[in-house]
Amino acid sequence: MARILIVDDEEVIRELLTRQLEPDGHVCETAVNGREAVDKVQDTEYDLIISDVRMPEIDGLQFLRAVKPRIENTTPCVLLTGFADISYAILAIQVGAFDYLRKPWEINELRIAVNRALQRRADLRFRRDYQADLERRVQEAVVQLKSAYDATVVGFAALLEGKDTGTADHCVRVRDMCSRLGREIGLGTDRVRDLELGAMLHDIGKCKIPDAILNKPGKLTPEEWDVMRLHPEYGAEIVERLEFLRGATEVVRCHHERWDGAGYPRRLAGEAIPLAARIFMVVDAYDTITSKRSYKDAQAPELALEEIRRCAGTHFDPSVVEAFERVFPEFAAATRAAAVAPPTAPPSYRVVAG
Ligand SMILES: [Fe+2]
Repeated sequence: MARILIVDDEEVIRELLTRQLEPDGHVCETAVNGREAVDKVQDTEYDLIISDVRMPEIDGLQFLRAVKPRIENTTPCVLLTGFADISYAILAIQVGAFDYLRKPWEINELRIAVNRALQRRADLRFRRDYQADLERRVQEAVVQLKSAYDATVVGFAALLEGKDTGTADHCVRVRDMCSRLGREIGLGTDRVRDLELGAMLHDIGKCKIPDAILNKPGKLTPEEWDVMRLHPEYGAEIVERLEFLRGATEVVRCHHERWDGAGYPRRLAGEAIPLAARIFMVVDAYDTITSKRSYKDAQAPELALEEIRRCAGTHFDPSVVEAFERVFPEFAAATRAAAVAPPTAPPSYRVVAG
């Protein structure tokens, strides 16, 4: 049983086809011209369309062209032709019709044509469903792969946090805030993803810094600072070699540059610093100020905001700071939810541990 659309400007043809098809269990709908048929096809998915070739206004060929995007993978079309229309019907088949039936037809010819077309419909829909299932499974595999990548990156970050004492969960918090601020600024999905990776792995280069320098309790000597300042380049060398981490390179390499050009390792300034790195720097500063470290207490979010405003135009891109102020209430609420940070004296922001 199939739902069949019959398109013909002659009532006698529409009625004849309906009388011949409905006893076989098919449900027939009719359209009196190509224009009405186009409307019906837009609203309904038919199992089969039987259409006349010669019709006023929109002929069978124009009708086929109009509905092709809608039916080509789901609904076969059989054309009705007069003897003189055969070459026209062949042209229509080239456009996308499945078959043609010559007028006048024997009922067995009609049944054979309909059954062949319905088998074609079954094949088309099987292929469509198979394709959809394949796409769904590929999507699931991509999600699983991304999840595995994320787990790997979180593992890297955890290793880094273990090495650089006192920054537990810093990377994950900064990743989530970078993601929010990146979307606020209008970054697309792929760039947000790169920013997240960069935020998680920004200090991966510290794995090449000797522990004696990295975990030194006191102040670093100028020579030790020279070594510490190599960690962004070390990190960039690591991530740019790995295809799935390559998007993190900009943040990893430039996360200690400053808007005024006084940062490192390349002393980039202004918009020469990649936007992702400029976003990261603001978020990193916020998280550093509002987190407890071995050398300081956690500060209130409002005090962090005050310090970030003060550093707009020196440390930070002023336009990123503006965007940060828009999302600040969300960040402050999340910070307070994690741990209440009592207001204390205004902090003096400094670039922590390189
Ligand atoms: Fe760093």
